[in-house]
Amino acid sequence: MVITFIRLCQWLCLILLMLLKTECSDDVEMTFIHSAVAKGAVCLDGSPPAYQFDQGFGEGVDKWLIHIQGGGWCESTKSCLLRVNKSNGVGSSTLMQKFNFTGVFSSKQEFNPGFYNWNRVIMRYCDGASFTGDVEKVDPATNLHYRGARIFNVILDELLAKGLNTASSALLTGCSSGGLAVILYCDKFRAKLPATSQVKCVPDAGYFVHVKDISGKYHFEKFFTKIVKLHNSEINLPSSCTSKMKPGLCFYPEFILPTIKTPVFVINSAYDSYQVQNILAPEKADSHDSWSACKLNISNCSPTQLKRLQDFRSDFIKTLKSGMGRSVSNSTSRGMFINSCYSHCQTGNQINWLGDPASKLDNKAIAEVVSDWFYERNTTQLIDRRHKLPQQC
Ligand SMILES: *[C@@H]1O[C@H](CO)[C@@H](O)[C@H](O)[C@H]1NC(C)=O
Ligand SMILES: *[C@@H]1O[C@H](CO)[C@@H](O)[C@H](O)[C@H]1NC(C)=O
Ligand SMILES: *[C@@H]1O[C@H](CO)[C@@H](O)[C@H](O)[C@H]1NC(C)=O
Ligand SMILES: *[C@@H]1O[C@H](CO)[C@@H](O)[C@H](O)[C@H]1NC(C)=O
Ligand SMILES: *[C@@H]1O[C@H](CO)[C@@H](O)[C@H](O)[C@H]1NC(C)=O
Repeated sequence: MVITFIRLCQWLCLILLMLLKTECSDDVEMTFIHSAVAKGAVCLDGSPPAYQFDQGFGEGVDKWLIHIQGGGWCESTKSCLLRVNKSNGVGSSTLMQKFNFTGVFSSKQEFNPGFYNWNRVIMRYCDGASFTGDVEKVDPATNLHYRGARIFNVILDELLAKGLNTASSALLTGCSSGGLAVILYCDKFRAKLPATSQVKCVPDAGYFVHVKDISGKYHFEKFFTKIVKLHNSEINLPSSCTSKMKPGLCFYPEFILPTIKTPVFVINSAYDSYQVQNILAPEKADSHDSWSACKLNISNCSPTQLKRLQDFRSDFIKTLKSGMGRSVSNSTSRGMFINSCYSHCQTGNQINWLGDPASKLDNKAIAEVVSDWFYERNTTQLIDRRHKLPQQC
């Protein structure tokens, strides 16, 4: 009797554990590409590149969603050295922690209806230049490696060998500096896949605009220029752009997007918090430090600041439309979801991806609109015209 009872308990525990395990099934291991070190395809500190891969299933076995992780940039030896020690691993794979696969990465249909059963990959970011750098020389004093482009190629080659080379559908996504990488690499990625596969690109919070800051200058352009110089990114930027303008400007999507042939869907907030904090009101442009409270929490913004934010929104939309060019009339090749959340990156965040009413447009979540666009089911160019001010999402 007692033994039966214990047995029963053991069974119950086992079932519970199995249930818990399914619950945690979005725990995806890191893969380090040790063989890449010999090819010099390494993180800033020389450590091997890494990615996380969750295998597709069912009808998704031959579909691939490749996401390029974001995490700012480093524009000087000093800031790249600091980056190497950042605990989130954006300069070294030795410090990387696993990302949880939520939002667009989730393997659960109810959380990610369009892509849950696809092969889902996160390319981990550790180079500091949106995967564009390629400098052969390593400074012995710092041991810094500027090799982001090699990392992109090495991870992509590994995925191609794992089945991406015969994908029926593929989506290149990325957030922030990874979203910028999506724009920069979109056509190259397309070219690696069979002509018969359906390939599209979705930059999330990667549409950084070239507009004047609160001091009337372009401080952020200087930052972009320094990144491109330090990492020798020019050789990996589209020559259609670098032949026409300074390489630093070719980090701005508005000058690249018009030349991209592959379909692109831009997800961005018109009040993107990173852009407000670093492009509109960077510290260097705010000599009286009058914006820090407002940047920290938009409910602290003065009426003048709110007006300036609205002007930024107008500039953002104007710039976006110029980047979309003539193809803006063709929602198959160019889609967009531009809401008003005071936030940055929305696809990997379960709430923004599918849930929060404040991040929806026309009562549709980002997840629905991106799927509709990928499968060419509906009009997919949405800009929030209802909210005149930034929203907390
Ligand atoms: C980074 O960490 C290493 C090891 O802890 C240390 O030796 C080095 O001085 C640190 N570098 C910076 C720039 O903080
Ligand atoms: C991932 O999820 C676990 C469990 O829900 C949580 O404890 C952890 O902080 C999450 N990690 C990240 C990086 O969000
Ligand atoms: C911003 O401030 C408001 C009002 O003080 C507060 O309710 C809200 O929680 C704050 N938001 C954040 C993100 O801290
Ligand atoms: C719209 O773009 C798609 C994909 O680039 C293309 O196949 C189609 O011909 C375009 N349609 C029009 C009306 O230009
Ligand atoms: C397209 O979107 C409209 C407006 O949101 C909706 O009413 C309609 O049902 C959608 N059509 C399809 C085929 O999903």
